[in-house]
Amino acid sequence: MDSNREKLASGRTVIVKVLAIESSCDETSAAVVCDAATPDGRILSNVIKSQIAIHAEFGGVVPEIAARNHMDVIDVVVEEALEKANETLKTVDLIAATAGPGLIGGLLVGMVTAKALALMNGKPFMAINHLEGHLLTPRLCYDVEFPYLLLLASGGHFLFAEIFGVGKYEVLGKTLDDAAGEAFDKVARMLGLAYPGGPSIQKIAKNGDSSRFDYTIPMQRRIGCDVSFSGIKTATKLHIATLKNICDQDRADVAASFQLTVITHITKKLRKAYQMTKSKPKNIVIAGGVAANEALREAVAKICEQENFNFSAPSLELCSDNAAMIGWAAIERMLAGFKPSKLDAKTRPRWPITEIDDSTESNIE
Ligand code: KG4
Ligand code: ZN
Repeated sequence: MDSNREKLASGRTVIVKVLAIESSCDETSAAVVCDAATPDGRILSNVIKSQIAIHAEFGGVVPEIAARNHMDVIDVVVEEALEKANETLKTVDLIAATAGPGLIGGLLVGMVTAKALALMNGKPFMAINHLEGHLLTPRLCYDVEFPYLLLLASGGHFLFAEIFGVGKYEVLGKTLDDAAGEAFDKVARMLGLAYPGGPSIQKIAKNGDSSRFDYTIPMQRRIGCDVSFSGIKTATKLHIATLKNICDQDRADVAASFQLTVITHITKKLRKAYQMTKSKPKNIVIAGGVAANEALREAVAKICEQENFNFSAPSLELCSDNAAMIGWAAIERMLAGFKPSKLDAKTRPRWPITEIDDSTESNIE
């Protein structure tokens, strides 16, 4: 049992309650999370106000509009999270916010709010990496033990990593171009489907023929587990161009063929990623918005069954962006002995997971 789990399982009552804020993309979220010994008692509230409807007409997130909307609702979202958790700014022990990576405007709104609340209420503050939030979520939900092999697939990121412990992350492979979610979003746009593209494609793919269009699985002979989605995207564009008067069945067939190709590509590389791990972990974890994809979950679950691995994926709500995962990352960091951040901690639009360790020790650029 790793030491964080030992602390959680030691039977003591809750000692840490964190108010967390997430505003790195198009969801304004605030949550209160505690270090209860079992997962079902940890999330005291998790309020998520999505801007999806606002950005839908643009087919993607418009950073300026996102920042303004975060600013408009952040106070209410924080208030609601505290109210639902039956807590106040006086009763929480720490205030955390996503410091990056993400869209700078939104990140600043969350960081400034969290820092101001921490300062005014004499509470410690912790700057959290958004990707660390995603990658520790399976522990929030299911107490998955370290080490594990992680597949993190979201709208802005795609990577395979070996997770040895809190702050001990080794990237095994990543995307050479688009993130998987980005590819789903762009193909959805080509098909005239609603943003975000992932759920739209998943929905219509259920009625589609996944063998109708030919695709080549990218980078099969390449050593390592990097992925690429741009060729699949271009092939999809060419397939769509062959269709005259595109109908719903055509769209469903394109969506199904595209989705299957992406998933086949990812699962082949997942096997390679496993070969590259040092610890040969028994646990395989998927996280990030794309981890909500049912076909991907099924495909990875099948590999795990074949290979006798334990498979974990967060509940659907906790796959996409939310503040509970940020609060949980703060708790994990505290239990692992990391100190709170300084109040002048920087907002970091780019922040690789391999550079997380130094974030809470001291203020860094
Ligand atoms: O993690 P997330 O909520 O935000 C980022 O940090 O990027 O991920 C959002 C991405 C979007 O690109 C969205 O299309 C994709 O996750 N997504 C999905 C599904 N649900 C969300 N992709 C495929 N299938 C889904 N069911
Ligand atoms: Zn995310």
